[in-house]
Amino acid sequence: MIRKYTFGHPIPTDAVVLSLPAETGAVPFFTLSRNGEQIVLTRKLEAEDCLFGLGESVRGINKRGFLYRSWNSDVFNHTESTESLYSSHNFLVFFGPESCFGLYMDDPGRITWDLGYTRTDTAVITSENGNLDLYILEEASLTALARSFRRLIGRSYLPPRWAFGYIQSRWGYASEEEVRAVAGEHRKRGIPLDGVCLDIDYMEDFKNFTWRKDAFPDLNRFSADMKKEHIRLIPIIDAGIKEEEGYAPYDTGKAGGFFCKKEDGSDFTAAVWPGVCCFPDFMREDARRWFGSLYTPLLEAGVEGFWNDMNEPALFYTEERVQEAFRRAEELCGGNVDYEAMWGLKNAFNGIENNPEDYRSFFHSVDGQPVRHDKAHNLYGASMTRATAEAFRRFDPGRRFLLFSRSSFIGAHRNGGIWQGDNFSWWSHLKMALQMLPNLNLCGFLFSGCDLGGFGCNVTEDLLARFLQLGVFMPLMRNHSALHTRDQEIYRFSSWEIMRDTVRVRYALLPFLYSEFMKAALTDGMYFRPLAFDYSKDPRAVHTEDQIMLGEGCMIAPVLEQNAVGRYVYLPEDMLMIRFRSPEDYDLVPLDRGSHWIDCSLREFLLFAKKDHPVLLCPGGECTELLDDRTFTAVCRTDREVTYDLYRDDGSDPDPVLAEHLTKAVLPAAAACSSAVPGVAISSLVL
Ligand code: GLC
Repeated sequence: MIRKYTFGHPIPTDAVVLSLPAETGAVPFFTLSRNGEQIVLTRKLEAEDCLFGLGESVRGINKRGFLYRSWNSDVFNHTESTESLYSSHNFLVFFGPESCFGLYMDDPGRITWDLGYTRTDTAVITSENGNLDLYILEEASLTALARSFRRLIGRSYLPPRWAFGYIQSRWGYASEEEVRAVAGEHRKRGIPLDGVCLDIDYMEDFKNFTWRKDAFPDLNRFSADMKKEHIRLIPIIDAGIKEEEGYAPYDTGKAGGFFCKKEDGSDFTAAVWPGVCCFPDFMREDARRWFGSLYTPLLEAGVEGFWNDMNEPALFYTEERVQEAFRRAEELCGGNVDYEAMWGLKNAFNGIENNPEDYRSFFHSVDGQPVRHDKAHNLYGASMTRATAEAFRRFDPGRRFLLFSRSSFIGAHRNGGIWQGDNFSWWSHLKMALQMLPNLNLCGFLFSGCDLGGFGCNVTEDLLARFLQLGVFMPLMRNHSALHTRDQEIYRFSSWEIMRDTVRVRYALLPFLYSEFMKAALTDGMYFRPLAFDYSKDPRAVHTEDQIMLGEGCMIAPVLEQNAVGRYVYLPEDMLMIRFRSPEDYDLVPLDRGSHWIDCSLREFLLFAKKDHPVLLCPGGECTELLDDRTFTAVCRTDREVTYDLYRDDGSDPDPVLAEHLTKAVLPAAAACSSAVPGVAISSLVL
């Protein structure tokens, strides 16, 4: 059951697709109060209550015990005390012995989620705008709740199948030659590869929709050449458009009046990579159409995937903030520069970035009415994603394109995927990536992943190996790193063969993982979920923070610690463990319910499957297009004949009908095949 409550005059967000009448009674489960314009929801938490959701946010799978703020922020260098990340996903599920309901705040302004932070037994959720649609969802189970929420917000984005391949990326690939060399090295060494991201280095002076003719002389030809090698180029597009006369995107944007305006009607400007930029008003349909049309030449050149960035929007500085900082500096340095003055000076300059004053100083036009940016701040990235997705649909409605964005809001889950922003090469960020995945799924973002290896600072070999092992199961499997950090391509490391084999396992599992992903997406289910969804009556499973469920019947438990040679894994039921070293070399170990110490050296990683749930491995290959997805080895812990519905399609149909793409794979009972592992069926299938 979904109930809607409306307060004031909500800003349209495009998040919800189900039209419901607003209720008039009191909001159930919460005490509602007002504090000036703010709406405050308070609820007492029972000792056993868990909170799931909030998609991209720091800390655990269970969000209880911290304070989070919905406020999309460019927060390079975030840690576990960072309250806001790049996206805001305002869906939270309350789950306990007495409760199973969800709260969705359809409000693109700032929201504070004090989830047992001020008082451990109380959740206080505050909408600053006070103008919003609020939804309460009530179902008998967590799974039903997730499905009901997806009915409210619409089906998740479907990427093309090639996007499940391995993608190599780095800020700093400065020429066509360099990209070719990187791709060539992967092919030479047998490291599978389906895409290379082009970062801002391909642009001329970091201007969107241009490219450096000296270093990338003919992007069309380059893209076509790479495609022949089954490698897609995936260019980055930033939100800001450089303010420069004679630069077509600026001239046409200016002529159309498509940029966000200040109160005096002039264009709002702030600096990002290319210098001073204007910001498209993506909330306007005509501005989205104009911006989307700028992708057309690249699409015509055969580009099939993009990543949209800096769309919180990130503001390095505005002229106003710089002047203010200089004024403050003069004031502070007038006399003796003591330590207070020195800190003041530092803060004055640090504060010029992403300054709240700036976010209050410009406007969008919504149905002809001005809306101050901060009231709708969290929608900016989602609206940019929408502009791009609409352009794809206009360009070729019969095809899926790859799109992933840094900033997002619920609603954008229908139009694209996301990456988890600028993480670091830290073990703590490996764990954070794992913990975010189920909550992103709960909020509709199935196609996601983190920068494998970590974006900021220098990766170590073992950390990259462990990141990749988790990445095997992430829909978006991209190795990405920042300029000036240590080279992070697999082949740069002495143990590259181990990592190559990890990626090879991804390709052997790819038809199976794709099948699990598509079935989840097309049934409004979850590809990743907390263990609580499958084992709601098992307190130990409910509170598990370092293992997650995958697809219909699998679970993953990655190694997340430096120098670890294994880990404890909790099995809520009897399962089959697969310990991978390569697609050809793995152990099959039936394990019973309970806790187990599992040896797992650096070259090994684990997948668990419930009884009667097979895992299918194909022969693998160097790219998705050449994968043989007809011939499989299927493994399953079972004592009967089992069937698996394998989903297969052309990898591109934007609106596939699930039933038309399922093939039944029948596995004989373990006893009927000459299995070396008692109780485990191992069969060769041709489907
Ligand atoms: C931002 C992005 C990062 C990219 C960099 C340069 O920090 O998050 O992925 O490499 O900008 O474009």
